[in-house]
Order: sequence, then C-alpha cells, then structure tokens
Amino acid sequence: MIFYFTGTGNSLYAASFLRSQDEALVDIADACKEGRYHYSLRDGERLGFVFPTYCYTLADYIIDFLRRIEIDGVSYTFGVMTCGGGMGGAGACLGKVLGEKGIDLSYLAQVVMTDNTVFYWDLDDTDEITVTQRKADETLAEIKRAIEDKKTCRIKGGIAEPFYRLMYHSLNKTKAFRVTDACLHCGKCARECPSSAIEMKDGLPNWTKSRCVKCSACINRCPTRAIQYGKKTESRRRYTNPILRSK
Ligand SMILES: Cc1cc2nc3c(=O)[nH]c(=O)nc-3n(C[C@H](O)[C@H](O)[C@H](O)COP(=O)(O)O)c2cc1C
Ligand code: SF4
Ligand code: SF4
Repeated sequence: MIFYFTGTGNSLYAASFLRSQDEALVDIADACKEGRYHYSLRDGERLGFVFPTYCYTLADYIIDFLRRIEIDGVSYTFGVMTCGGGMGGAGACLGKVLGEKGIDLSYLAQVVMTDNTVFYWDLDDTDEITVTQRKADETLAEIKRAIEDKKTCRIKGGIAEPFYRLMYHSLNKTKAFRVTDACLHCGKCARECPSSAIEMKDGLPNWTKSRCVKCSACINRCPTRAIQYGKKTESRRRYTNPILRSK
C-alpha cells in the first residue's frame, strides 16, 4: 500500500511508477476528506509513502495525517520524497513522525522532478521538463529495484528541522493569492484545494483561511492562469505533471 500526497502530480507519478501490480495507492487528501484513518496490510505487504518536499521538510497537513492513521501488519516500509532540487530534512522528518508511531522507515530516497514553486521563481520550460523527467524516470527505476529487493538504509539528518519548519510556517500563508478577470468561474481550484482554503463567492475563488498546505495546485492547475500570487507570477510559467492533465 502506498500513501501519497500531490499538488501538481509529481508525487502521484512517482507513486504510480513504484507501485507493483494490484498495490493500493491511497491519496491522503481523499482519505482526510472521507475520514479514512484505519488501514490493514496483507501478510508481508510493503508500506510506502510518497510526498512532495516543502521548504526541506514535510507539510503540517501530511504530518497530521501520519499522526492520525493506524496501520495493521506493518513490516517493510519505504519513503520517497519528490523535490525540485533536494529533500533536505523532509525524509528525516518522515522517519521521525513514523518512528513516534512505532513504524521503522526501512528505506528512504529522493527523486528530483520538475520544481513547481511558482510563488518564488519562474519554472522550467518544456525542454528542461523533458530532461528532468528522463532523469527522474532513471532514479525511480533504481528506487523501484531497491524496494523490490527490500533494501534498507540509515535515515540521516534532522538537525536543521526546527529551522526548516520555521521557514515553512513563514511561507504557507494565503494572503498574496488573488484572482484576475481570466477566471472562468469553474470552481476547480476550490474543489481541488486539499486545505479547503478556497470558497467560491459570486463565481470567484476566495482564500478563506490564512494558511494552507501551499501545495501550488490552485495556481499551477487553473485552466486560464487566472490565479496569481503577489505581482511576480503573471509572467511565470505554470507546471502540472501530465499524469494530472486528464483530470
Ligand atoms: C511551497 C513549496 C516549497 C517547496 N520547497 C522545496 C524544497 O525545499 N526543496 C525542493 O527540492 N523542492 C521544493 N519544492 C518543489 C516540490 O517539492 C516539487 O516540485 C515536488 O515534486 C512537487 O510535488 P507534487 O507535484 O506531487 O505536488 C517546493 C514546492 C512548493 C510549492
Ligand atoms: S480554477 Fe481558475 S478559472 Fe476555475 S474558478 Fe478557479 S480561478 Fe477561476
Ligand atoms: S490554497 Fe492553493 S496552494 Fe494552498 S493548499 Fe489550496 S490549492 Fe494548495
């Protein structure tokens, strides 16, 4: 069973790549909405977690979910952090939160995929995305072999975790979101927000919570690029992994 969270599709892509035949993929955003917190593994079934890196750490939303779930029959457990450059302390944080529940993270890896951080800088162009995706596929193939062989590794890091958490908490604010006249009033952003931080009012999205996961789904996945964050995002590219484009 593989648990994943995704804003722009990379982690779903990675989880789908690593999945073995008939292995369940659990979207933690759906699980939270439906209140599904209890899971049972089959005899010898592996347990996986595939999450995006935010400010070199894990989102509070993911940590809260991990603290709430109960999983029976845990044996081999792996974690894969998708990231735009490096997972920093995110994997160590995953190991620590699972450890608090008595789950030993047997194996941890990172996979560099296209960076979706449109809030702070421009995103890759199509050629750069193609190259990154090819390298990501190579890394994922190596990780797939490692977890099939039930490889283990020591989880290192975590010293800078308090600093990364401070950084994440200073960035996960919604104040700078705004919507332009390009809005089609489709409600997609509100439906897909994992934080339920967007409400439609008079056909337009309103950010009704002061903080959110900051997953970037709304701004990257709006069909008309109507969502902006501050002033600088108007000229920046948007990114969605093709695995989500049909959704
Ligand atoms: C708010 C925010 C912070 C991020 N911080 C990091 C980071 O510290 N290091 C990194 O390598 N990538 C960072 N990223 C990039 C994402 O981790 C990366 O693009 C990830 O693959 C996105 O996964 P998803 O498509 O499943 O949402 C950040 C993205 C966002 C939106
Ligand atoms: S997804 Fe974009 S077009 Fe649709 S309601 Fe939200 S802002 Fe408007
Ligand atoms: S408001 Fe946007 S960035 Fe924040 S959690 Fe919702 S979809 Fe993600």
